[in-house]
Amino acid sequence: MKNESRKIVAIIGQGYVGRSVAEAAVGAGHRVVGFDINPDVVSSLKIGGDYKGSTDASLIGDADIVVIAVPTPLDGARKPDLSAVDAACKTIIENIKKPILIINESTSYPGTLRNEIASVIEGATGLGHAYASSPERVDPGNEKWIQKNTPRLLAGLNPEATALVRKFYASFCDEIIEVSTPEVAEAAKLFENTFRQVNIALVNEFAQISNALDIPTREVLDAAATKPFGFMSFQPGPGVGGHCIPVDPSYLAYVAENVGVPAEFIKRANQVNLGMPAYVVSRVAKDAGSLKGKKVVVIGISYKANVSDTREAPAALVIHELKKQGAEAAWHDPVVAMWNGQSSSELKGFDIAIVVTKHDAVSEAAIKASAPYVFDCTGSIKGVAGL
Ligand SMILES: NC(=O)c1ccc[n+]([C@@H]2O[C@H](COP(=O)([O-])OP(=O)(O)OC[C@H]3O[C@@H](n4cnc5c(N)ncnc54)[C@H](O)[C@@H]3O)[C@@H](O)[C@H]2O)c1
Repeated sequence: MKNESRKIVAIIGQGYVGRSVAEAAVGAGHRVVGFDINPDVVSSLKIGGDYKGSTDASLIGDADIVVIAVPTPLDGARKPDLSAVDAACKTIIENIKKPILIINESTSYPGTLRNEIASVIEGATGLGHAYASSPERVDPGNEKWIQKNTPRLLAGLNPEATALVRKFYASFCDEIIEVSTPEVAEAAKLFENTFRQVNIALVNEFAQISNALDIPTREVLDAAATKPFGFMSFQPGPGVGGHCIPVDPSYLAYVAENVGVPAEFIKRANQVNLGMPAYVVSRVAKDAGSLKGKKVVVIGISYKANVSDTREAPAALVIHELKKQGAEAAWHDPVVAMWNGQSSSELKGFDIAIVVTKHDAVSEAAIKASAPYVFDCTGSIKGVAGL
């Protein structure tokens, strides 16, 4: 990399996204400062090269580029909670004293960069920073689609910002998709995940219909997927988890309602997906009889195979539902290992096993040996009951 292209990049938030961008930026020859408020996160960082992780916000003061990669969850009323974005803006206001490029990668509703970030920082500093939105698309555990080859959406608030942000991502991404405004980039990210959420809900509803009709769900889905055009395959499951699919559509529904559009489709999809844990337990009870006093193990606590993320994971709702029905619910997950202060149970001696997430580290043989009745939500285990 030529010297003038090498930047000092500060990344606010060193979670899944912040780390991934830090690695890519270091790999492209930039000098990276990773700032996080959580000392445990900072001490667990393992990034080589010209990289420094810290809880000291003053270290971002020399940056040419700041990337915001903080959580954007829902609050108790399932409305957007932008408190971490607000706090990141405060950190920028307090520590950056010259005009730089500020990029938001956190997922949020259209208008966030313009109204919640740029106007707040400019209102406080008047420094005339360049602002851009480039929503992150990284997929945890996906080895094929990584920072380098996943097309990068971006837009600046003005042409100068767009030119700067394009140059930055072009230093480590193969394909840049420039859109006309930050609002287009922000809305595209929400629509991508809403598309997944509603299609997963549709296939989950279909699983219930086909089961009631006594038609094998997965065989129907495989048959439909042979159509070479106009069809995209989605698989049923125990619900949706992680920081994106259960959350982002509600950001879209929130802005929709603010402009008088009720977003019923998104709400209905949420309902169907959130209802799946209860449906799974009802199917188990239908096969196995009353669950009162039965020893049930839920296999796979995280929301995705071979990933340890337990945020919004449907397994927690399955356990809740089992306990409501009087079962003695335990869980097994060698990838998560510790959850809610409890360690993973040994996989043996149960009456019922419910496979919510199938990590490679858990063998099919061990699952089948753990209980006389197995219910598989993943469709990956032959010869047992399931979705
Ligand atoms: N995880 C994904 O697969 C994924 C994919 C695409 C987009 N996103 C989006 O990217 C954003 C970040 O997601 P994530 O998965 O990296 O979250 P994360 O929870 O893994 O990491 C966020 C980090 O930010 C830190 N943090 C919180 N407030 C802070 C502050 N004020 N200053 C500095 N650090 C702060 C937290 O301590 C945490 O380490 C979210 O908007 C998310 O929706 C996530």
